[in-house]
Amino acid sequence: MARSSYQAPRGTFDVLPAQKRLRRRVESVAITILSRAGYEPIATPVFEDTDLFERGVGRSTDVVQKEMFTFEDKGGRSLTLRPEGTAPICRAYLEHGMHKLAQPVKLYYRGPFFRHERPQAGRYRQFHQIGLEAIGSDSPLADAEAIMLLSDLLTELAIPGVELHLASLGSFESRKEYLEELKAYLRANEPDLSREVRERIDLNPLRAFDADDEGTRGVMAGAPTIVERLDGEDASHFAEVRAHLEAAGTPYEIDSTLVRGLDYYTRTIFSFVCPSLGAQSEVGGGGRYDGLIEQLGGPPTPAVGWAAGIERIMLAMGEEGAPCHRDAFLAAAGEDQRQRALALAIELRHAGLSAEVDLAGRGLKGQLKHANRIGARHVLILEADGSLQMRDMETGEQRPISPAAVLDELAK
Ligand code: HAM
Repeated sequence: MARSSYQAPRGTFDVLPAQKRLRRRVESVAITILSRAGYEPIATPVFEDTDLFERGVGRSTDVVQKEMFTFEDKGGRSLTLRPEGTAPICRAYLEHGMHKLAQPVKLYYRGPFFRHERPQAGRYRQFHQIGLEAIGSDSPLADAEAIMLLSDLLTELAIPGVELHLASLGSFESRKEYLEELKAYLRANEPDLSREVRERIDLNPLRAFDADDEGTRGVMAGAPTIVERLDGEDASHFAEVRAHLEAAGTPYEIDSTLVRGLDYYTRTIFSFVCPSLGAQSEVGGGGRYDGLIEQLGGPPTPAVGWAAGIERIMLAMGEEGAPCHRDAFLAAAGEDQRQRALALAIELRHAGLSAEVDLAGRGLKGQLKHANRIGARHVLILEADGSLQMRDMETGEQRPISPAAVLDELAK
């Protein structure tokens, strides 16, 4: 077999037809669910000014510090392959004056994202997300609705064992006091912390909750949590989000150690986890980001959203791919029937059916075998005498059929 010495770059993969069919199904279920809730599609470029992510995602995050694919274009501008979609969508919201539209502006997107992470099962350097953003509402209903839409999607795809983890980070302002308390706690326990956590006490103390070394985990088990310290409007906002989820029968658990890898979050954060996936168990997550649009130079604009990893969803579904289907295969019983077979296939396609003919010079037996291979529901055999036979590939039943009846029979 011909074999090239080239391979897809580390952390990337080709999506072959069977997998692509399954992806399409996942995407089309998502699009149906999101469209029904009034979300509109949007697409932004796969690269943006590097500064957008530094400012939007946050300079202290792993994503910005270690994982961005950044390059200089020929004009000397620093560009970055998008590691996530929220900052670009907020950029587009401002660039196109969407703050002047009726609020909130509800958008969904899907496409490739890029992070230079160490590849492992469920973690890639080019991966795909489907996500939504509801920009311009601070209502707890917006949080609850967004969460329920992701829950609906995972339920509709029959992903087993999904858990919803929920927390609130409070607003940037009210979080300050808590962060000082957390930093003091971390400093008091410094000898037991990993070097990475120690080095980031001032920059990003919350990430200590995410550490996986034993020493840090031991310390964090006794650390003060932000959820316990929510007060005033932050506490009532969170209580309302919870009440809406409960009223809708969406099960969740409060996870006071939940943190996210991006700096823009305020108040509600959530994570949908499928424990059977192992180390990379989060299928999707997000939260509220009330300060991001202002951070990017716009007016104060509350917003909430999430993104789900398509590869992780597919891993959790446990399916390698989806089988292919055709409505019909047109088999020529003799060489001079091939042109007629193609003409009939074209006629069927124009009527909206899927139909194929043999392009490899197979004999009739070979054509029937091939029809089976491609999942053809029916085979139409064009006999040398000009007559037609129709074979139902499921039952094996075969009978003569008049050309005029073919469309009606296939459409059944
Ligand atoms: P994120 O948590 O960084 O959030 O990514 C969302 C999802 O993308 C994850 O739950 C995971 O399923 C998938 N994912 C992330 N990194 C990888 C990777 N290297 N390989 C495979 N899958 C991955 C965001 O990106 C936010 N923009 C979500 C959001 C929208 N927040 C508010 N609005």
